[in-house]
Amino acid sequence: MTTTVSSRVGFLGLGVMGQPMALRLVRAGVGLVVWNRTPDRCDPVVAAGARAVDTVTEVAADCATVVVMLADEFAVDQVLDPGGPGFADLVRDRLLIMMGTYPPAYSVALQAAVRAAGGSYVEAPVSGSRAAAEAGALVAMLAGDDPSVLARTQELLASVAARVVPCGPVPSALLTKLTVNSYIITMLTGLAEAVHLGDRLGIERRRLTEVLLGGTLASPVLATKLEKLAAGDHSAQAAIADVAKNTGLITTAAARAGAAAPLAEVCHRLFADAVDLGLGGDDLIAVISSLEARAGSL
Ligand SMILES: NC(=O)c1ccc[n+]([C@@H]2O[C@H](COP(=O)([O-])OP(=O)(O)OC[C@H]3O[C@@H](n4cnc5c(N)ncnc54)[C@H](OP(=O)(O)O)[C@@H]3O)[C@@H](O)[C@H]2O)c1
Repeated sequence: MTTTVSSRVGFLGLGVMGQPMALRLVRAGVGLVVWNRTPDRCDPVVAAGARAVDTVTEVAADCATVVVMLADEFAVDQVLDPGGPGFADLVRDRLLIMMGTYPPAYSVALQAAVRAAGGSYVEAPVSGSRAAAEAGALVAMLAGDDPSVLARTQELLASVAARVVPCGPVPSALLTKLTVNSYIITMLTGLAEAVHLGDRLGIERRRLTEVLLGGTLASPVLATKLEKLAAGDHSAQAAIADVAKNTGLITTAAARAGAAAPLAEVCHRLFADAVDLGLGGDDLIAVISSLEARAGSL
């Protein structure tokens, strides 16, 4: 199947999320041109039919639409260099689809810079981790002003997201994403704390898993995280360092909005502690180590 979107689509950032998302696009028939700072992370996507290039300039030269799935605003600055001499040529007559999680104010400023240079801009952050990305089961939140651009984006994302939720103008998609993350992160940190408590009370993780997954709280996310805890599998679906970044964005957004966010603040400290313990690359559920450290058992 070939999509009716522009002939070629660029994809910048083939990390934990970007790689499976790019793979789904290629397998859906999208002609994909990929770039990643660490080139060998392009290999699986190239094996599936994408073309890898050495520079972002080559991506822009070949693609009217460019998906950006880079880690944070510092990576975006480094890669796109907004305000730099080559920026206008990179984005003029291009549609930039920003799918990572960035500060809302940063996104507003980037949108203004892209528009001033003659490009189009859409926010499309996603909810769901690597397993959801592999399954095409992400939920994308969409923000922008131009209905035809939003429709083009939604069509492109059909193989990546099971659902696309329109949110309004930029940065409403990122504000929605931070709100959703506030729930997910505090919930999963609560799971880590419960397992830690169970460990101390002598409750087998297997028994806890049976009870939690046996009732109405059962969910694929809960099952995945409980399995990872039982197996001691800390491979990242969502990395501790990324969650620490996210809790920082949530607490900042809450402070600006005058919202109370005590749970997010505690989570922010726990994830920062986990980064300090050297666990930044581990899955978020390894935050249990921060609790063990607080309990004096590490
Ligand atoms: N993981 C999740 O569950 C999840 C879910 C929803 C949204 N998100 C958001 O989606 C974005 C990507 O997440 P991820 O989990 O895929 O992160 P990741 O695995 O850390 O990948 C980050 C990507 O950014 C690149 N990058 C980082 N710093 C760079 C720099 N200075 N210059 C150039 N490239 C740089 C990395 O390149 P290298 O390969 O060279 O390091 C990689 O391609 C983040 O904004 C994250 O918050 C993540």
